[in-house]
This record gives sequence, structure tokens and C-alpha cells, in this order.
Amino acid sequence: MPSFMRLMAVAAAVRSGFASTFHVFDNTAYTNTSIGYGSSNINWIPAYAIVLEWNVYPSYPLVLDCEDLYFTSTSTADLYLEIMSTLQTWAADVIPEGQIIGWYGLSGNTISSLYDHYRSLISNYTNHAFFPSAYTFSDSISTWNKSLTSVVNVINTIDNTLPIWPYTWPQYHGNYSFIPGDLWQRELEALASNSNLDGFVVWGGKNHVVCDDACQSIAGDEPWLNITREYLNTLYGIYSGAAQKSGSQLFN
Ligand SMILES: *[C@@H]1O[C@H](CO)[C@@H](O)[C@H](O)[C@H]1NC(C)=O
Ligand SMILES: *[C@@H]1O[C@H](CO)[C@@H](O)[C@H](O)[C@H]1NC(C)=O
Ligand SMILES: *[C@@H]1O[C@H](CO)[C@@H](O)[C@H](O)[C@H]1NC(C)=O
Ligand SMILES: *[C@@H]1O[C@H](CO)[C@@H](O)[C@H](O)[C@H]1NC(C)=O
Ligand SMILES: *[C@@H]1O[C@H](CO)[C@@H](O)[C@H](O)[C@H]1NC(C)=O
Repeated sequence: MPSFMRLMAVAAAVRSGFASTFHVFDNTAYTNTSIGYGSSNINWIPAYAIVLEWNVYPSYPLVLDCEDLYFTSTSTADLYLEIMSTLQTWAADVIPEGQIIGWYGLSGNTISSLYDHYRSLISNYTNHAFFPSAYTFSDSISTWNKSLTSVVNVINTIDNTLPIWPYTWPQYHGNYSFIPGDLWQRELEALASNSNLDGFVVWGGKNHVVCDDACQSIAGDEPWLNITREYLNTLYGIYSGAAQKSGSQLFN
């Protein structure tokens, strides 16, 4: 099994009518800080070999994270298409029929001359979704939003029928410090009001390099958690008010 392969299973209901729902997935592993509030659980799978062992939510989508296999060069594209097709076929062999599979970050790392390669990857396994990165590189909401708009445009050009669930992360991509609460709040609001999206994933705390012990010890006290919970409370009308979106409480 390729050692570069990292897999994550993201829990999401496989139901008809994805377009009408807005799912917020908790893909974090901060100590004592599950988001709750209608966000859905996840499984993280560190290697392909244990897909079956960790696929504990049968029929929930599987996110494949293989950042060495992007469609950024015509010289490697055919080979990578074959490898990724093989990997998703193997994964499909051990998960329930119809379960969604998607590739983390691939859409933002596919050059326009290789969009057909991405389409081939989708046609190789059609129960597909997009999981682009929407991580934060600066304190500018406008830069963040432009980057998201750009990758959504790419996705809509490749295939505008499949769910889009961007990966967010309440830490800066560069130095891993937690982003300011107001910036996180604006990102969450932009995600909810973006009609191209079917929800999003919150990533974080999954490995010691990006969240060491000091980071873990403060993670739950950082503004993002309370802001995310307040947002979900409003979004899904959990304790008061009318729901703005459906798609909460996937495990009911
Ligand atoms: C997907 O690609 C793999 C690898 O080439 C192949 O074995 C499999 O048959 C393909 N599946 C479909 C449905 O095209
Ligand atoms: C981390 O990076 C962000 C974005 O560049 C910056 O605004 C922030 O000041 C940095 N934080 C630390 C602790 O270096
Ligand atoms: C983000 O970009 C979208 C267009 O994709 C726009 O409708 C929205 O107003 C922007 N939001 C922010 C906060 O800049
Ligand atoms: C997590 O919660 C446990 C039980 O309340 C506590 O002992 C521990 O110190 C907490 N860890 C952190 C990093 O807050
Ligand atoms: C967020 O923090 C405020 C102020 O401390 C508190 O009143 C509120 O209950 C918190 N919300 C959640 C969802 O934890």
C-alpha cells in the first residue's frame, strides 16, 4: 500500500436530495472539543489498509487525501489518473454500494488542460463529491473568499452536478495559530450564504505537527468553538428560532 496515502472518512448522510441540505462535518480532533450542535461525526483513516476497519459509518462519504497525486502536470496525469482510479476502485470494493468518495484538494490542484482527467476519475466512480481546501492563509476575508470562488468555478466547470464540501480549518495554514474569531465568523457566514456549496467540513487537531500539546490545551478555549456552536445553533435552529438550513443531526 502506498505510504503517502492518507484517508479520511467523513460522515455525511447519503440520502437523496443533497442539494437541499447543508451539512457541517466535524473533522476535528481537538482535545475535549467536539463541536456538536448538529454537526456530524467523522472517521479518520490514517492508511488505506484499514479502510474496512474504520469505515464504521457504512454508506457515509469517504474522503481520500493523496496530496502527491494532483493533476498539475501533463507528464504525470495519465499515471496519476490510473493510480487514483485504482485506489478509489479498491476503496469502493470494501465500502457499501453507493457510498460517496471524493478527493481532498484535487479540484484546486487540477490545471485546465487536465479537467478531462478529473472527469474520467469521476466517471470511474460516479458517486462522487468535491472536497476543496478552504484553508486560511492570511487575515483577509476577501482573499480567502476569492480563493474559494476560484476553486468553486473550477469545480463547476469540471462537473456542476456533484456536492461541494470545502475543508475549513480554524488555524492559519502557515503558522498554525488559531485565526481570529471575527475572521472565522465571516468565513462561516460566507459558507452558509454561498449557494454553490452543500455544506463544509471543519478540520483540525488531527496531527501533532499542526496542533502540538500547547495547541491542544488551548483549542477548546479559542473563539472558533463557541462561534461555530452559536452559528450551528442559528443555522439549524437547534435551541430557538427557525432553521435556516436542513442537514443537521445526521446520526439521528
Ligand atoms: C476504474 O479504474 C480501475 C483502474 O483502471 C479499473 O480497474 C476499474 O474497472 C474502473 N472502473 C470503472 C467503473 O470504470
Ligand atoms: C500567523 O499568520 C497570520 C497570517 O499570516 C498572521 O496574521 C498572524 O499574526 C501569525 N501569527 C503568529 C503567532 O505568528
Ligand atoms: C464571496 O464571494 C461570493 C461570490 O462567489 C460573493 O457572492 C460573496 O458576497 C463573497 N463574500 C464575501 C464575504 O466576500
Ligand atoms: C479534557 O478533559 C479532561 C476531563 O475533564 C481533563 O482532565 C483534561 O485536562 C482535558 N484536557 C484538555 C487538554 O483540556
Ligand atoms: C458562547 O459564549 C457566550 C459568552 O460566554 C455564552 O453565553 C454562550 O452560551 C456560548 N455559546 C455556546 C454555544 O457555547
